[in-house]
Amino acid sequence: MTTRGGFSSRLGFIAAAAGSAVGLGNIWQFPYVAGQNGGAAFLIIYVFWIFLIGFPIMLGEITLGRSAQSNPYGAYKKYGGKAWGLVGLFGILSGIMILSFYNVVSGWAFGYFLETAFGNLLEENDFSSFFGEYVADYSDNLWFSFGFMAITAVIVLQGVKKGIEGSAKILMPALFFLLLGIIVYGLTLPGAIEGVKFYLLPNFSLINAETIYSALGQAFFSLSLGMGGLITYGSYLSKQENILSSASLVVIADTMVAFLAGLMIFPLVFSQGQSPSEGPGLVFVALPGIFQAMGPVLGKIVGSSFFLLLCFAALTSTISLLEVAVAYLIDERKWSRRRAVSLMALVIFFIGIPSMLGYGAIQSLTSFTFYEGTSKSFMDLVQDIFSVIALPLGGFLLSVFIATRWTTAKFSDEISQGAKNYKGSFMEGFLNIMIKFICPVVLGLMFILTLLQKFFNIQLF
Ligand code: TRP
Repeated sequence: MTTRGGFSSRLGFIAAAAGSAVGLGNIWQFPYVAGQNGGAAFLIIYVFWIFLIGFPIMLGEITLGRSAQSNPYGAYKKYGGKAWGLVGLFGILSGIMILSFYNVVSGWAFGYFLETAFGNLLEENDFSSFFGEYVADYSDNLWFSFGFMAITAVIVLQGVKKGIEGSAKILMPALFFLLLGIIVYGLTLPGAIEGVKFYLLPNFSLINAETIYSALGQAFFSLSLGMGGLITYGSYLSKQENILSSASLVVIADTMVAFLAGLMIFPLVFSQGQSPSEGPGLVFVALPGIFQAMGPVLGKIVGSSFFLLLCFAALTSTISLLEVAVAYLIDERKWSRRRAVSLMALVIFFIGIPSMLGYGAIQSLTSFTFYEGTSKSFMDLVQDIFSVIALPLGGFLLSVFIATRWTTAKFSDEISQGAKNYKGSFMEGFLNIMIKFICPVVLGLMFILTLLQKFFNIQLF
């Protein structure tokens, strides 16, 4: 027990878990996925998944971690034996793969910070082709993503309290206020209202199977669920803490930031006559035009602050992703933190290189045909396997594990340790039913549907 680190306070855990949740998933990915999947209709389904499935699964992860005091592999193995341990291992692998591409996008954000602050990004006249050329030029990107991984490693090296907790407490609030500022500015622009309509007035004819599982995958990704990240953070949490209220705050903060990111982006996109379904470049293409319009001085200040905070948001997430694999190596393989961090960071950086080269640098990685009529980049493929499919699958397995092995009684006991009136409450009944019946059925079904669509191109509706 004495060698495991821990959070110093409840606020520390909340900041770290919210820091893990809030990241590129909210600001970069959420708007572009929503833009590709019908705007408001997507938003509604997303929120539905967050509260119905995301919240119970989040509690499942945190309670399991705190009870087992272990990394995902150790936690599953402790209560379910070696075979269940494999589920934990698969989660750790998913985390490694997610971090590999996440770090590349973080590198883009860092590059955009430098280009805005010190370069001449804001003097460009075609931000879309600038973005295309930027991501295709791997020489800078190699350095930036290497640098990003190095910074992540340095913080994870300092351990739970100083590194992880300390950084998150300052960066999260700063990001929040900057978002609010840009939203207010954006709403004053001509044509902005069209963006608000797209984002807030649902057109249900745009909903299809893809909308539904994209929203589910997005919910898991955004809350950092399904690969044991919160099992790991939960294992650093003390027994007195109220998991129920902490998790609620994390879910609310994460959903707020994603919601605000959409409210920031869509008015800007529409006021500049861009397309909301632009894809992964959306944030990088829509925002610079606005910064440019603010004039050279103000634009530089606001623009570079924005990309810098985007880097910070990404950093508290890369930290949490790296920590999972590191915790495994420390707990199970008895490695030193230093050895685990440096080796893992380096390996994951290398695994990310094909994702980086798949944005124009190397044609065969940029678009290959997986099945007739579609083309994917290498990064899309990694995202499909390890995020869209693996995370909800991880949630499915977690709920089956709790229902059949660890038991909802233990789940409930663990929550009630820090939440006085939990036992016998409506919330307890709700969560137990969700974990035991609804999550396994819904997530199992969604897993099959997603697999059929993504890999066999069978579209159900
Ligand atoms: N949730 C983070 C984001 O929205 C990314 C992230 C961090 C993550 N840890 C994770 C995603 C674990 C899935 C699993 O940017």
